[in-house]
Amino acid sequence: MYEKIIKTDLGADVKIIDLRTDTISRPTQEMKEAMYIAEVGDDVYGEDPTVTELERRSAELLGKEDALFVASGTMANLIAIMVHCSQRGCEIISGDKAHTYRLEQGGTAQIAGVQTAPVKNKDDGTFSLDELREKIRKNPDMHEPITSLIIVENTHNLCGGKALPLDWLEKVSSIAAEHNIPVHMDGARLMNAAVFLKVTPRRVVRDVDTVCFCLSKGLGCPVGAVLAGSTDFITKSRRIRKVLGGGWRQAGVLAAAGLVALDTMIDRLRIDHDHAFKIAKAIHQMKSNIFKVDRAKVQTNILLMYVDRNKVDIKELQRRLQTVLDTDSVRASVRCSSLKFDCVRFVLYHEITAEDVQLACDKIQLVIKEYDEIFNLENYDTVA
Ligand SMILES: Cc1ncc(COP(=O)(O)O)c(C=O)c1O
Repeated sequence: MYEKIIKTDLGADVKIIDLRTDTISRPTQEMKEAMYIAEVGDDVYGEDPTVTELERRSAELLGKEDALFVASGTMANLIAIMVHCSQRGCEIISGDKAHTYRLEQGGTAQIAGVQTAPVKNKDDGTFSLDELREKIRKNPDMHEPITSLIIVENTHNLCGGKALPLDWLEKVSSIAAEHNIPVHMDGARLMNAAVFLKVTPRRVVRDVDTVCFCLSKGLGCPVGAVLAGSTDFITKSRRIRKVLGGGWRQAGVLAAAGLVALDTMIDRLRIDHDHAFKIAKAIHQMKSNIFKVDRAKVQTNILLMYVDRNKVDIKELQRRLQTVLDTDSVRASVRCSSLKFDCVRFVLYHEITAEDVQLACDKIQLVIKEYDEIFNLENYDTVA
């Protein structure tokens, strides 16, 4: 488990609790052992038995015909876009907070040559079905691009780890089917969605044509993502993966960790979800006017804490959470990431223990109390 007690100028007794993201999670001992003894071959020739097994198991888990092991979630999404949008002049529709739209360097346009029509994301990661209908180009004339793909994200990262409601997915799928447009799910954290919804991963992806999930986030693997869909889609994806430089050789070393993840890391995600909820509860208990979290909205392993941006500078807050003063009673350095000027993000994963979570709660409460005291005092001064 996460026993990293850093001996730096923070002080030998300080515990670093790194909640910036789940991608920093490291492989478990069982994964390392499986990687050590993995049977391997040249995967470009289709001769790596461990990769083949990971792809077979993943396709089965998701109820799709076939699957492909790729280097990253970004690569999986780009391949899906390139396969679905194979003619020039294509347009995809996605939420305006979608990872593919915001955080993949515009690869959709830069590499695939495809335009995105964004629809406004709601707080729960969905978007308006009416707006979706409006954005679909029906019988496009020669001036218009051709709507070729709809992308949904599950769980939704920038919306704070929300699992998409199954009935909403069904409606998106039926609208898409009316217009003969495929749906791709960016399921980087798909397993978190399944665990939250208490259904199988296969059920979560039932209404989408293609889907990817990451092995390297909450599932703890060092590298990798899996893309799944029909046999024809995966055959085309394999070809596109090669031109992107993603045709790898003895990748069974990595796939071995993926197989361990499928066996051991999915059900335990509920522990990370409980941990996120516990931190949310600790923030809520402070009843601060400056720091807010909506406990009811914490579903999976991502927690967003909103701040009053007139009172709190996000960078300063991050520094304070990280710093341990000699006078601090809590000996923890908590790291988080900032999404905007008014919000920080905490992400839970397998190396963060219950003790770490308690320490993180204590530290966050200590910092909130400090801010609250400063501002109450200032209010008092103003009144006086
Ligand atoms: C929703 C979502 N999709 C895709 C990705 C990209 O994954 P990768 O970092 O493996 O390229 C991420 C990464 O954080 C993500 O959160």
